[in-house]
Amino acid sequence: MKKRIGIKDVASKAEVSVGTVSNVLNRPDSVAELTRQRVQNAIEELGFVRNDSGRQLREGSSRTIAYVVLDGSNPFFTDVARGIDGVARANSLALYTCNSAGDAARESEFLDLLLEQRVRGVLVTPVNQELLLLERLRARGMPVVLVDRSPGSDWCSVGVDDVLGASLAITHLLEQGHERIAFVGGPLTTPQIADRFDGALKAMISAGKSADDLVVLGTDGLTVAEGRNAGERIAGLPGAQRPSASFCANDLVALGLLQQMTAMGIRVPAEMAIVGYDDIEFAAAAAVPLSSIRQPRALLGRTAADLLLLEAGEGPEHRHQQVEFEPELIVRASSLHVSPTS
Ligand code: RIB
Repeated sequence: MKKRIGIKDVASKAEVSVGTVSNVLNRPDSVAELTRQRVQNAIEELGFVRNDSGRQLREGSSRTIAYVVLDGSNPFFTDVARGIDGVARANSLALYTCNSAGDAARESEFLDLLLEQRVRGVLVTPVNQELLLLERLRARGMPVVLVDRSPGSDWCSVGVDDVLGASLAITHLLEQGHERIAFVGGPLTTPQIADRFDGALKAMISAGKSADDLVVLGTDGLTVAEGRNAGERIAGLPGAQRPSASFCANDLVALGLLQQMTAMGIRVPAEMAIVGYDDIEFAAAAAVPLSSIRQPRALLGRTAADLLLLEAGEGPEHRHQQVEFEPELIVRASSLHVSPTS
């Protein structure tokens, strides 16, 4: 019985990756003319016929993809969604955006609904570590890509090196002369927040500080209100224990802390330097422009959407990819020590 020619055979014949063959089949305009011609010659020479029935099942009947976000009120997620939407529109697809609001039951309801709707694929920043729900989708042939989370090589995922991001923030504050620095954020059960705490602690230790010099102000979430609450707690610390700088696990917390410091007459950065995380648009627009660790939000979204469409097009041939971007320190007035003479 003649062996069925698969996408891998075409890739090795044309000396390109499986992803390139998939792009030639699904998005020919995204492939250079010479490469596209090489792949098409290989397809003809081998007599490759794509398995349309499997592809149509995988790709779903509706021309939509979905992104389930953790917090619809956080501009980080709307910026990522904007990147996803750009790829969806380029492929004549619509984007559903669902807000789990950190509620696992709500996330589960959305995932069930998206399965019923037979969307082409689901992007998700999951509420917790349980991937059983996502496994269920995948078992039903639904492609899933994780955003801002990377559970391992068995999933496509995009994210940022949060340990490095936190290290950039702490190193910057130490260079500004701060000795005691607050880590403001939580819960630490959220992987990206745990990584930020881990990176902050490692940076303190490698700079010769003690772990006690990192004052932890844990929060129940990453909102402006939590930042204001943390600001009250910091202001209530005895002078000798009060940190002179704060690294916040995201910009919303940092903006809340900045607001509370200002309301309590504590000068930023002179009495409290602040660095946030994400570099959302409101960071630069704050009353005291906020220093932050920039995440490439639109790029995260575009890359995640590209991986999703690749997985939808390749089916069982697909090899999962984990893409991790580097964060960038953006220094603004909220953390820049200006010496009296300057
Ligand atoms: O989900 C909360 C935070 O995690 C966002 O602000 C962003 O930093 C993400 O990585």
